[in-house]
Parts: sequence; structure tokens; C-alpha cells
Amino acid sequence: MKYQIPKGLFDILPYGADQDWRFTNQWQYAERIIHHLSRDYGYLEMRTPIFEKTEVFHHSVGESTDIIAKEMYTFLDKAGRSMSLRPEGTASLVRAFVEKNLSHQGALHKFYYIGPMFRYERMQKGRYRQFHQFGIEAIGPMSAEIDVEVIDFLNEFFNRLGLKEITIQMNSVGTTECRIKYKKKLLKYLSPHFNNLSKDSQLRFEKNPLRILDSKDPHDIKIIEKAPSILDTVSKEAKEHFDKVCKLLTNLKIQYKINDKLIRGLDYYTNTVFEFTSSHLGAQNAIGGGGRYDSLVKSFGGPDLPGVGFAAGLERIIQTMVAQKVNFPSLSFPFIYFIPLSSAVREYCFEKTTELRHLFIPSEIDLDAKKIQKSLQKAIRAEAKYCAILGDEEWQNKQIQLKNLATREQKNIALDKIIPILKGYWQDFSQNNKLL
Ligand code: HAM
Repeated sequence: MKYQIPKGLFDILPYGADQDWRFTNQWQYAERIIHHLSRDYGYLEMRTPIFEKTEVFHHSVGESTDIIAKEMYTFLDKAGRSMSLRPEGTASLVRAFVEKNLSHQGALHKFYYIGPMFRYERMQKGRYRQFHQFGIEAIGPMSAEIDVEVIDFLNEFFNRLGLKEITIQMNSVGTTECRIKYKKKLLKYLSPHFNNLSKDSQLRFEKNPLRILDSKDPHDIKIIEKAPSILDTVSKEAKEHFDKVCKLLTNLKIQYKINDKLIRGLDYYTNTVFEFTSSHLGAQNAIGGGGRYDSLVKSFGGPDLPGVGFAAGLERIIQTMVAQKVNFPSLSFPFIYFIPLSSAVREYCFEKTTELRHLFIPSEIDLDAKKIQKSLQKAIRAEAKYCAILGDEEWQNKQIQLKNLATREQKNIALDKIIPILKGYWQDFSQNNKLL
């Protein structure tokens, strides 16, 4: 019997049929860019566990959100304690930040994370039950520049990945008090339309009316169009902060649209919220989103420090890259491929392969070499750059044949020169291809 992977999960494999956006080289490429980018912006990596005490998420994400109400993978451990697989990264990061007193070191704290998240969602393209997020969080003084740093970081990530046709939507949800005021206004506006709202929105009317603004139902959208704007309700300070963020984005020539209906699906947001969408995805077109959470750290028992961050979904990003035909570098290739044509020279070739590997030069050997043409085909398939061919005749002359597989040029080289020559070639190649 063959076992099948559970619904909504997927394998990332180095090769195989129907992998499309699930090839390891695509993921490693995106991850490499993430690590470099985070270094350039001064963010340090934090790794938190995949599950936490359930209350960590209830407390932060919010009881009435879809994530908590419907989508959590919750289980009792052997001692009967409720645990949940993390549905997102911000809650765990803030829990760790507060628990480990990281605020004691410096004023501004900048972190990033990459890893799997879990939400029991209805399956559709771009929506999975295990998905991967790359996120950053900046915890420290409240300033519009930090909001813009975070938005520019995500924008630069997409630039470095070579993505096009990305739209940025911006909004401010103000403080908790602003939202209470706005909720009243919104309910007043929606009340006469209650019977025309979708079932989901009717349910949200009581529990979390702001989320109605996020509805994708066409009838709801018509009603929502004329709803009062939250931007007319937020406090003077919140408005000033938002205006400053928008001005700084304009100064940096980052294009955005203001969407006063953008609310986002987590309860911890205050002030700035934003979302990046791609026109190459279907209904699930959000490739990243985030915002400020000015009371979250304090609510976890930490100091009164505001924070701002985003998370971006790697599945949707890689799908967009594939759709936009971005070139991914290959996973790994042997720079040099040894072809020993007799058992007498096999030991020597194996030793040289090992020696080159110890010198950080990707090397492979065909332990099954019989016919030179077949072995050359294998080397080409493996994307090798050079082949070193050794037969009995060359061995007697203390020489080895070196073939450049791109130019087809070949020459005989003295056996004791092969390592220094290959070292030189590798250095040039890796510098030209930014591999070092
Ligand atoms: P979020 O909007 O829930 O925000 O998720 C961020 C991104 O994760 C989405 O834009 C999407 O690309 C991806 N994503 C979410 N759910 C799925 C899914 N089921 N399948 C595939 N991709 C998905 C957060 O999680 C916040 N923690 C972001 C944040 C960080 N805010 C402040 N700091």
C-alpha cells in the first residue's frame, strides 16, 4: 500500500514530475535572498517552536478571528495541556521576546523568521494547511520611518526576486479606541442592510463587524462600497502618523493605493496596516501583509513597546515567480565530473573527487563509467561544467583529459596539475556567478 500525504500539505523535492513550484532549488533561492536581505536591513533571525500553548494565539490573534475560531490545529499533550500548531509567527516571536527579556538589550529590536505555519483552511489554489511564511518584526520606538522600513523591506524582497505587477494597499486602523468608535459607525450603517448581507457577514455582524469589510461576496462588496471610511474616524495622532508614512513612501517612490476597507484578519493591529497583492494569483492574491501592533508586547507582560512587521507567504511568492518565468539557479551541480574509464584508474579519480570536495569544489564521479559517451551524457544532465576523463592510455602518460562541457574544448593536463588548475577555474567561475 502507498501512503498519501494529507490534504493541503505538500513535499518540496529536488526533482520529480508535477512539482511545478515545489522544487527545492526554487525555495533555496528565495531563502538565500531572504538571509541576504535581512542582513542588509539589520534584522536577526529568530527561531521559535512550531507549537505553543494555545492561549498564546488566543490572546494575540483574537478569539473572534477566523484563524482562532475555525482554523487552529489544537491538541492536548500527554499531560492534558492544550497546545496549538502556530498559525502565524508574530505571537510566538513576541512571546519569546518578552519571556527572554530581549528588550533589555538596546532600543530597537529587529528580527526575521522563516518557517511552516498551520491553518485548517478550505483547500484551494494558494491556500494550504501547512504553508511557509517569511516575516520580520521591528520592536522599539514608534516612528513612521520604521513602518516605511518594513514596507520597503518587503518591496525590496519582491524586487530582488524579480517579481512584477505587485500592488501595495495601505490603511490605518487607528488605536483600539478609534476602532470602538468606528465599529459603532459601521454597525449603524450596516444595520438596515443586515438581511442582504451574506451568511458569513451576518455572523460577523455580532462578533467582529470590521471583518465584514474583508468579504469577497459580491452583494456584500456593493453594500461595503458606501460604508463610512475608518480614516475619517481615526484620531488626529493616528491620522498624522499615517500621513507621514504615506509621505515617506512617496519620497522613496514606492507606489501604493489607499484602501480604507483594508482591515486584515488578526486582531492585534493598530495604526498602519498594509497588504501586497499579485495579479498573477487567483482569489488568494495576497503575497504578504502586516502592520503595527502597538499594544501587543505590553499585553504579553512585556514593556510598553510598539512593534511593526509583515509576513509573506512563500508558496504564493514562488507560484508568482514561476508564472512570471523568473529564472531559478539550479539546485547543485558538480563543477567537475570525473570519468574513470577502467578499474585501474578508479581509485585515483575517487581520491581526487574527495580532495576537491574538501576544497569546497562541487565534484562528482561516475562510479559506473563504461562508455565515454554515456558518461558524458550523464555529466551534461547533471549540469557539470568540466569533465575529467581518465583511461589507461592517459594514466600511463601521467595525464588526464579535461573537457569544458560548454565550449567542448578539451586538453590533456599533467596529473599533478589537475588540482591547482581546477582550483583556479572554480575561483573564476564562482566569482563570475556570485557563488562565493
Ligand atoms: P497574514 O495576512 O495572516 O498575516 O499572513 C501573511 C501571508 O501569509 C499572507 O499574505 C499569505 O501570503 C500567506 N498565507 C496566509 N495563510 C495562508 C495559507 N493558508 N496558505 C498559503 N499562504 C498563506 C500574518 O500572519 C501576520 N503574522 C503578519 C504580520 C507580521 N503582521 C505583523 N507582523
